[in-house]
Amino acid sequence: MASVSRLLTSSLFPPILPSALDPRQALPNPHARILVSSRVPWWKKASPAPVPEAADPAAPLIRLEGVTRTFRGEADEETHALVDVSVTLGRGEYVSVSGPSGCGKSTFLSVLALLDTPTRGQYWFNGRRVDTLTQGEKARIRNVDIGLVFQSFNLIGDMTVYENVEYPLTLRNASPPDREARTRAALDRVGLSARAKQRPGQLSGGHQQLVAVARAIAGRPPILLADEPTGNLDSKSGEALMDMLGELHAGGTTICLATHNPDYIARAGRHIYLFDGRVVDAPG
Ligand SMILES: Nc1ncnc2c1ncn2[C@@H]1O[C@H](COP(=O)(O)OP(=O)(O)O)[C@@H](O)[C@H]1O
Ligand SMILES: [Mg+2]
Repeated sequence: MASVSRLLTSSLFPPILPSALDPRQALPNPHARILVSSRVPWWKKASPAPVPEAADPAAPLIRLEGVTRTFRGEADEETHALVDVSVTLGRGEYVSVSGPSGCGKSTFLSVLALLDTPTRGQYWFNGRRVDTLTQGEKARIRNVDIGLVFQSFNLIGDMTVYENVEYPLTLRNASPPDREARTRAALDRVGLSARAKQRPGQLSGGHQQLVAVARAIAGRPPILLADEPTGNLDSKSGEALMDMLGELHAGGTTICLATHNPDYIARAGRHIYLFDGRVVDAPG
């Protein structure tokens, strides 16, 4: 188990799993499967936790206005990952984000998840300007309101699969029985219950991806941001995961999905296309 200090200090998940970066692990894994439980799934029994009441109920759930994110490299060169992005996401929407590699999809989701801060521009979450929120309010949003499936998984290598999924629930002080029920249900949902005691490094890239999905959904967040979540899955597991996103959306979850796959883009109700960091019209 990780040290208590790390549990207390980390409100995000450090990318310390070397195997997640191993390109051999990144190949689609033909053994990865999402098994659907025969029991009534928990996300049909219970709605996601509602986002706390908005300062202005008419305000969109998420609003970016003129958001630019510039990275400055060691030689002082600038990379414009996002340029003047103005978008909104309404409650209960299912939005896709697509565009070529390097167009800014991951940066966009990191900004939405409050893991990255715009260089310029404004972000309103639930009607409130994010730059006016306290650290505690931001931590709550990151931990309770938003579930994020990282493109790079960001699993914690010295925790078991079970502990990785349970970790965000521990940070939010969920009771032990509640933590256990949610962790087991999420692992069951992605078909990894039998791997609960393994370490992420013992799993294929596809299974690591499913652990990352289980961790993001275990807290039943009202907003789910998924960064190319099918990138390491074979087509059947990818389809199953997409079906699960559809069910979560039908249950009230707001979803923002970054993907290259045209079939998966088509499942979203609205589409955002990025090119060189800018929002553009759908490619002709
Ligand atoms: N931490 C970073 N430091 C420097 N450049 C970065 C960083 N993160 C992303 N970038 C750059 O920003 C651009 C957008 O990256 P990213 O958001 O990862 O795109 P995508 O997810 O669409 O592939 C790329 O040129 C990438 O190299
Ligand atoms: Mg990306």
